[in-house]
Amino acid sequence: MNEANTEVEIDWGNLGFDYMDTHASFSALYANGAWGDGTLTEDPYLAIHEGSTSVHYAQQCFEGLKAYGSQDGRLLLFRPEKNWERMADTCERLMIPPVPRELFFEGITKCIQRNREFAPPYGSGASLYIRPFVVGIGRNLGLRPAPEFLFRVFVSPVGPYFKGGKQSPISLAVVDYDRSATRGTGHIKAGANYAGALLASATAREQGADEALFLDSQQNAYIDEAGSSNILIVTEDGLLVPKSPAILPSITKFAAMEIARSELGLKIDERPVHLRDEVASFIEVAAAGTAATLVPVGAIHVDGQKHTFYNGGTQAGPITEQLYEILAGIQRGDVEDKFGWIQPVDLD
Ligand SMILES: Cc1ncc(COP(=O)(O)O)c(C=O)c1O
Repeated sequence: MNEANTEVEIDWGNLGFDYMDTHASFSALYANGAWGDGTLTEDPYLAIHEGSTSVHYAQQCFEGLKAYGSQDGRLLLFRPEKNWERMADTCERLMIPPVPRELFFEGITKCIQRNREFAPPYGSGASLYIRPFVVGIGRNLGLRPAPEFLFRVFVSPVGPYFKGGKQSPISLAVVDYDRSATRGTGHIKAGANYAGALLASATAREQGADEALFLDSQQNAYIDEAGSSNILIVTEDGLLVPKSPAILPSITKFAAMEIARSELGLKIDERPVHLRDEVASFIEVAAAGTAATLVPVGAIHVDGQKHTFYNGGTQAGPITEQLYEILAGIQRGDVEDKFGWIQPVDLD
């Protein structure tokens, strides 16, 4: 842990997507039926009871958003309200008392204010990743909701999620593991979803791809999503968006859809997409998510076959490129935010 007020030296251009120690995190306790006041803490460790429901029954959840440095020195959050709403939905599904809006935003703001020097400057290609999360804690053994919960927020400066960023297309592989069930927890940000996906990602990488592509668990046919991003497809008819009850509603994807509709004039078709039957009509494919922003997908491997997209999968297609430029431009304050998506962090 860095001591308070220690000078921070960071090589902004060479950051990966890794945890970095900062000055402090934000922490608030839910006990006796109510959320208490939050405070900053310099301790990155959680001392929790060994019976905690988060440890045994995965009663926990998280969110992920970024603050982007703008040219005029502000720090901009992208649709943070949506992260709070999604965390509230997640909490409800997992029987976690929802984190009040004020507490959520206080946690984010205080944590960023205290760690101001860790926020990458404009033009560095990096951003400040913000990780709010809730864990069920307290003395427990049986399968029931926890008596107490902890809400925490930490931040970490990060570079591109996939090395190469928007220039280098990634590849996805369909492997033999499902991510989530139709009426399960795929649509919320429960950590358990990600534990179940680790082996799928590792298997996809063993097969030479960058990530797993999940199909629906009932028919093993319709596109769900990738490990940490939703999928967008460009066809001759416009933008095709796989719809599924088992995927995380990606804030990045919905923004890209809105841009495609209103700025590029594309027709949007959001529906279940049958991978094997329809892959031949895919002109461009992109992965959308906070960590990755919008990354071109050059190839999808399924049933031992490799399907490539724009220019043989060697570069981003023009629509992906334009969507990225507008979206990333809005996030960094370079492109006018007609949609009201940007919220500057109060840095005082
Ligand atoms: C499984 C999964 N799908 C999609 C996304 C993209 O969502 P968002 O654009 O809100 O970051 C994420 C990242 O949060 C994710 O973990």
